[in-house]
Amino acid sequence: MSKLWGGRFTKQTDQLVEEYTASITFDKELAEEDIQGSLAHVAMLGKCGILPLADVEKITDGLHLVSNRIKRGEQEFSIGDEDIHMNIEKALIDEIGPVGGKLHTGRSRNDQVATDMHLYLRKRVVHFVGLLAKLQEALIGQAKANLDTIVPGYTHLQRAQPILFAHHLMAYVSMFQRDAERLTDSYKRVNTLPLGAGALAGTTFPIDRHFVAGRLGFERVYENSLDAVSDRDFILEFLSNASLIMMHLSRLSEELILWSSNEFAFVELDDAFCTGSSIMPQKKNPDVPELVRGKTGRVYGNLMGLLTVLKSLPLAYNKDMQEDKEGMLDTVKTLDGALQLFAPMISTMKVNKERMRQAVNQDFSNATDIADYLVNKGMPFRQAHEVIGKLVLYSIEHKKYLLDLELSEYHSFSKLFGDDIYNVLQPEHVVNARNVYGGTASVQVAAAVERAEAALQQL
Ligand code: ARG
Repeated sequence: MSKLWGGRFTKQTDQLVEEYTASITFDKELAEEDIQGSLAHVAMLGKCGILPLADVEKITDGLHLVSNRIKRGEQEFSIGDEDIHMNIEKALIDEIGPVGGKLHTGRSRNDQVATDMHLYLRKRVVHFVGLLAKLQEALIGQAKANLDTIVPGYTHLQRAQPILFAHHLMAYVSMFQRDAERLTDSYKRVNTLPLGAGALAGTTFPIDRHFVAGRLGFERVYENSLDAVSDRDFILEFLSNASLIMMHLSRLSEELILWSSNEFAFVELDDAFCTGSSIMPQKKNPDVPELVRGKTGRVYGNLMGLLTVLKSLPLAYNKDMQEDKEGMLDTVKTLDGALQLFAPMISTMKVNKERMRQAVNQDFSNATDIADYLVNKGMPFRQAHEVIGKLVLYSIEHKKYLLDLELSEYHSFSKLFGDDIYNVLQPEHVVNARNVYGGTASVQVAAAVERAEAALQQL
């Protein structure tokens, strides 16, 4: 088959080489962006007097025809035409004749593919900020329904101090807020136009890069033509932001899996988000969070893969860079799937308040508060810590919780104890005593919910 670049060659490409080097099997995903970029490019060629307007019109109409055919799934792509750029150019020439060959004037596939990738990711960055907001809304919804639900808070996965379940959920809202901010910050770099850099050095044609930028909605153009065609930082930034989101989702997944176990039984995921076992009829498995936890690995892998492709790569374009696509496309798909499922899974989740309360009543997570109690009565904290350590040991040995001890038993550890200790040890008191900005007291969590809702409004 004849190649668009066939002039310099006397032999056909080896069949295996053709298959090995082609990217059409995956970069066909960029068809829409490729056409979008070409439409702006050809409009600019007309505006700058590089192509007669009649040609611009024919090419524009032809591109629309090809675009529609692709959208209808009727356009055949061929490995012989290597990638999406040449497949579309070939289809255009088939459609409108040799005048289609004028589209590539003043352009190289190097600045073209970079432009496609910018267009593709720019749209996805906005999409993911929206999906993060939906997930945050779902978490905030559960938080609001659990402003009085007390649950053990853990460090080292050991009961530490009781907290509001809402407070725990709001921690994730903060994490996803940072993720949304990181994506939003990356937008200015993904929203920079490489087109006009040519193969690496610019072009001899009197093009207008800023006109193209304006047409495509890019805020600015790359300053340096070599950088424009060599840069894949914006993809790495996306992969890194996606890795952080998946890491956050995997932590939440892990907690959901633990909380769904009989041992915890703090939550129950809706049947719609679980699956059964082929052998054990009683099973209801949290497959969605498990798979999200598992898929985090491939997203990290995609980041590592591209970092490694780019390591030590000389300027400007090298074919190695074609390897930037599959990982990016896979990451977009993986992240999309995870975020789409997470929001409804969170909002339909049943919270077992009684079970949480039972857990809080059966632990020593109010121990810090007795230490603080003694400190308030004048005992140095370090000494109070020691006294309460012994008190806890005594309680464990006597199979009692702190609220079950008699005042006389308290007195045998310190004469500073009074009747008021029983109030101080109530879970509500313990929680509400942490009335610092960002703390777990009900008023603080309610304020945090309000701030988070206001931040979402600003998106
Ligand atoms: N398919 C190529 C890629 O994805 C497009 C750029 C090709 N440029 C070149 N000079 N061979 O990287």
